[in-house]
Amino acid sequence: MVAMLGFSRAKVLAAVRDMYTEVAAAPQQPFHFPVGRGACLQLGYPDEVLDAVPAEALESFAGVGYPFRAQVIRPGDVVLDVGSGSGTDALVAARLTGPEGKVYGLDMTAAMACKLRRLASAAGIGHLAVVEGNAEAIPLADASIDVVTTNGVLNLVPDKRRAVAEIFRVLKPGGRLQLADIVIRRPVTPDCKADPKLWAECVVGATVDEDYLALFRDAGFECLESLRDHDYFALSRSHETREVAARFGARAIELSMRRGAAAPGTLRRLAQRLDPRRLVRSLRRRGFAGALALLVAVLACYGSIAAAGLLSLAGFTLAVNDAAVSGVVVAFVALAVVATAAGFRKHARASPFIVALSGGAVVAYAQMVSFSFAAEFAGFALVAVAIFLDRRAHGQLEQEAP
Ligand SMILES: C[S@@+](CC[C@H](N)C(=O)[O-])C[C@H]1O[C@@H](n2cnc3c(N)ncnc32)[C@H](O)[C@@H]1O
Repeated sequence: MVAMLGFSRAKVLAAVRDMYTEVAAAPQQPFHFPVGRGACLQLGYPDEVLDAVPAEALESFAGVGYPFRAQVIRPGDVVLDVGSGSGTDALVAARLTGPEGKVYGLDMTAAMACKLRRLASAAGIGHLAVVEGNAEAIPLADASIDVVTTNGVLNLVPDKRRAVAEIFRVLKPGGRLQLADIVIRRPVTPDCKADPKLWAECVVGATVDEDYLALFRDAGFECLESLRDHDYFALSRSHETREVAARFGARAIELSMRRGAAAPGTLRRLAQRLDPRRLVRSLRRRGFAGALALLVAVLACYGSIAAAGLLSLAGFTLAVNDAAVSGVVVAFVALAVVATAAGFRKHARASPFIVALSGGAVVAYAQMVSFSFAAEFAGFALVAVAIFLDRRAHGQLEQEAP
């Protein structure tokens, strides 16, 4: 999982099970996402591939892309389909591996697992085994799988980091992963993230695209290749789902990658996760770059004064270079102003930038020309107000998204 705050894991799992029990048992009813053979065709499955899949498996298809675009499954391979549902992809994979290979379909929804088991047995496909279980704890041996395929599933999994680590564990070194999934451009607001029904509809459990790719790189996957990126939710019959998806910039991606020789060690993983460039990018995406810059400026300004005061109380003298401190303060206030200017490009409201520019000018004047504590403090306060206005404008824009 990327962020576990704001939602109940138990409620999400229950909502996902309920939703996909319905898709397995009554696929003809209307769902908020595309289902069935029609959805497969819209996502790029060729007719001749679908003709070889039992109609009952196709009717409950609920994938979000065509992961076989990666073309990585060979005859004789051992394949695992994570979140196999009624088994369209597991059955396609079983044809590609041939009977000398083996396919496992893993799903935590009993109705889906039972449906696929029955269909595989009826079709006499002996090399397809169905396992009921959770992607966060795959009940298969280490390094036992040549190819993992998964379609529309990881966005539904509460602990995505764990599921990706499990996929890495069961794959052989050099093994391939082909997947289709939902990603988003903007982080989901906590109120939406806490809605189990929206999770089950494949929208709000999704991860911001950059963080999603980082999950795989952090786990030790290599050679990530993006095969396709498309507006999956445009296919939804529900106006509400299209609206929520548009608000967060949700879309489907298809990826292919390879498992590296070994998982990165703890220190490397920690360094990857604490990479300051990643942190800054993430703050910028969440619109907090301006707030961070202002915080650094305020800390540089009052922090150096406080440190000098505290050290002198302890009998030490701290030689503060006033010009250097002023330079740092002005530089970070300027960054905060630039961040609000960047916000203008999105929401086209000039007031945050004007207020930030005025505040920045006051701070620069107090620092560089004629020092006044009151003026300096007022300048910081104006920049803080500007950042608040900018964030509010962003929030309103997201609420108004079509
Ligand atoms: C959107 S459907 C896709 C099904 C299938 N891949 C397809 O293309 O038709 C998601 C499936 O993943 C399963 N699933 C969701 N979370 C899971 C988890 N944590 N572990 C195992 N299966 C899960 C659901 O039960 C459901 O069958």
